[in-house]
Amino acid sequence: MDKGLQLEIIGGNRTTRKRTPACILRIHSPGEIKLDITNIFDTPNCPSPISKDDMERIAPKAVEQLEKLKRSEGNCRDKGIPMLGWMNHPLDIKREHLDEIRNAAGSLSDKIDAFVSLGIGGSYLGIEAVFKTLTHTYQNQLPREERSKCGGCPEIYFLGQNLDPDYILDTLDMLRGKRIGVNVISKSGTTTETAVVFRILRNLMEKSFGGDASRLIIATTDEKKGALRKLAGEKGYKTFVVPDNIGGRFSVLSDVGLFGLAVMDIDIGNLISGFTAMKRRIEEKEFWQNPALLHAAARYLAYQRGKKIEVIASNSAAIYQIARWMEQLFPESEGHHGKGMWVSPSMYTEKLHANGQMVQDGERNILETFLLLEKHDNVLNIPIAPDDLDGLNFLPKADKTVNDLNRLAMEGAAYAHYLGGVPNMTITIPERDVFCIGQLICMMEYSVAISGYLLGHNPFIQPGVEAYKKAMFALAGKPGYEEEGEKIKKELDGRERIVV
Ligand code: PA5
Repeated sequence: MDKGLQLEIIGGNRTTRKRTPACILRIHSPGEIKLDITNIFDTPNCPSPISKDDMERIAPKAVEQLEKLKRSEGNCRDKGIPMLGWMNHPLDIKREHLDEIRNAAGSLSDKIDAFVSLGIGGSYLGIEAVFKTLTHTYQNQLPREERSKCGGCPEIYFLGQNLDPDYILDTLDMLRGKRIGVNVISKSGTTTETAVVFRILRNLMEKSFGGDASRLIIATTDEKKGALRKLAGEKGYKTFVVPDNIGGRFSVLSDVGLFGLAVMDIDIGNLISGFTAMKRRIEEKEFWQNPALLHAAARYLAYQRGKKIEVIASNSAAIYQIARWMEQLFPESEGHHGKGMWVSPSMYTEKLHANGQMVQDGERNILETFLLLEKHDNVLNIPIAPDDLDGLNFLPKADKTVNDLNRLAMEGAAYAHYLGGVPNMTITIPERDVFCIGQLICMMEYSVAISGYLLGHNPFIQPGVEAYKKAMFALAGKPGYEEEGEKIKKELDGRERIVV
């Protein structure tokens, strides 16, 4: 290409705020997550607005649910095991174990060009969310030494979260000719999506790397049982353990997430510190000072008042990834017995030109939660244009940056949507920092646990997820499912099809 046509990013437009290197311990905390629920109350043009008195009335009930959690009580068992390990596990991880995770991650990272995190649901979303929240949008395209400040991490890919042959093969194309390492994560060890892609990858790795393949595969699974545990034993893979008492979607701060995140050069110690700081706030503060209790109570009241959809909107493409994790955490935990809010993660302002119309003016069944990033990594200035044909010179003349506009768009949306009948709340995340993300994870895990108890069911199981698996296995002719397969086929064949 003609060199003259290459885009040069010349100084003046962008001021990069220095990110703290992942491997250096912070000596100060970057700030607390804040929750603002002002716009939850007395929403105009809302058929049934929520008042502060409603909140006062629900407070004792919400507090009671938190107390139950703290006493390890309530409807929290899966196959007899109370699934509350996530509340204390991150704090109980021994320093030696964290060192073992970091050492294993470092030694794998040194050997490879690309790392594949293989899993679905809780064995996938939290890891991807934390990674994408804290790294460059186009991380894999950067030269390795620029990918993190600690010597560079390998390219990062995620697989096993769907059965799309094009997506899988396109990802394999990216891995061609590279030295790769894999972390296969499955608590049950039998999840089809993960197992099928692992079989494909394992096959390719064994053909390419021979006996070395086993040293490049790390399995995270049940301590004793399951197909993956057995395979790992036979092949001699290094393994990490999914704790018995932690469900998938609550597991990012266990071996499930910590190993992969360490390979990605994320400061896992500070992630845990963020969780711990928020846990203290939640377990010690009274109702009106307690972010998880207020968040859970506001959502519960909104649901009771007919808000069946929660739009979780962010002003940051990075933080939007956390909304994607929440899209799993909340519906998988709340969607039981005909109840639960649908969660719609949205990147604003992009979605303000799409579902924004519905939020402002559609059916008044929406609650809106803003995940507001307070300080972006960069400041982006708007240049003065000599002709000012677009009439935007007033912005740089008033020292307004893209950051300011981004912020004002969020404030404008919160104001307009409130007036339009949408109760909303804002969670402010001070910066794209691992300590902040640890706080957010903790707040959401407590909130959804309280919410499940308030709704009157067990938020730690997901029996509904089994139905599609059963039908898929039956249709695929899995041994043991023959009778069910016949039944489904007969039923499907018997239906009059309407196809045009
Ligand atoms: O939250 C959950 O429990 C689920 O989303 C699981 O994590 C998901 O189904 C993956 O299960 P597994 O780790 O057993 O492969």
